[in-house]
Amino acid sequence: TNVEKGSVTWESPSNIALVKYWGKKKDQIPENPSISFTLNHCKTITTLEFSKKEDHGSFEFEVYLDGDKKDDFKPKIHTFFERVEVYLPFLKQYRFIIKTENTFPHSSGIASSASGMSALALCLMNVEKQLIKSDVIVGAVEEDFDKTYFNRKASFLARLGSGSACRSIEGDLIVWGETKSIEGSTDLFGIKYPYKVHENFKEYQDTILLVDKGEKQVSSTVGHNLMHNHPYAQNRFEQAHQNLEDLKGILESGDLKAFNALVESEALTLHAMMLTSMPYFILMKPNTLEIINKIWGFREETGLHISFTLDAGANVHVLYPKSESQEILQFIQSELVAYCQNWHYICDQIGFGAELI
Ligand code: PMV
Repeated sequence: TNVEKGSVTWESPSNIALVKYWGKKKDQIPENPSISFTLNHCKTITTLEFSKKEDHGSFEFEVYLDGDKKDDFKPKIHTFFERVEVYLPFLKQYRFIIKTENTFPHSSGIASSASGMSALALCLMNVEKQLIKSDVIVGAVEEDFDKTYFNRKASFLARLGSGSACRSIEGDLIVWGETKSIEGSTDLFGIKYPYKVHENFKEYQDTILLVDKGEKQVSSTVGHNLMHNHPYAQNRFEQAHQNLEDLKGILESGDLKAFNALVESEALTLHAMMLTSMPYFILMKPNTLEIINKIWGFREETGLHISFTLDAGANVHVLYPKSESQEILQFIQSELVAYCQNWHYICDQIGFGAELI
């Protein structure tokens, strides 16, 4: 048999790092380990249509976002195809149509690269699975496609699209990057956090405050590269290993105060690396700092376990336990949403990874 054409759809979430990945080596190998919460509502839904073509000389694909043709997405996907072709040898034998949409508004300043690249990687894994079932890929056996293999290779491929994307395949806590305190951790793909987690972290909440929906001035690719020759790089990389080890104890004990301190320090350290690179840059906005100060004031006043984290942008992720969500959400709505662009925010929480549709 031979597969002429087909179609597959995956829904894959975004994720938010607690210990941040910032700095990489060749082939998207991280300079330090990271750990993230998988999100639940912020997702990309991607349908991949494939049909056999005669000429095997080059990649052929089209990309659509919300039904509109997106030629400006093509270079990034072309680079991704080049990187993964050796692992997916059928890529030049098929013509692909990639139809993608996000559950969060585009140009919300929320990175769609993690959810988008993981969704595409998962779709490609299903194509490979179908081809192997039909013996197109000679020598491979169907049993290779147990769930562990499928997810690991999907994560491995997603990493080659966008580093943090390798942490979006599964949930609810994912570690990426080899470090001695986490058994089984590897630079090659994300793994499920292998230890017991205190129930304080069950259904942990993440309310994303959209401070600036614009395109960021410095891409994360440029930011990662500025960690080469960065004066504080080595210390930072060592600190990430230590923070991950410390976080392991915190996740076990459920110490939310220690959790908040570690996570906020990680967010500010990420931005401190940006402030101290050459050239230097600032991705936070005045309202980012207003929000941080309000959160600190409210925490001081109430003793509630609210904290923030940031990714490579101005938006603020407000983290808090489910048990305190009533008071904290009320505070967010009455005090923080005013600092968002068009009062825009997204309520999310920890999720469990991608799904085949
Ligand atoms: O996956 P990239 O290359 O877009 O890098 C993202 C890095 C941060 O979001 C800033 C941190 C992280 O670990 O997700």
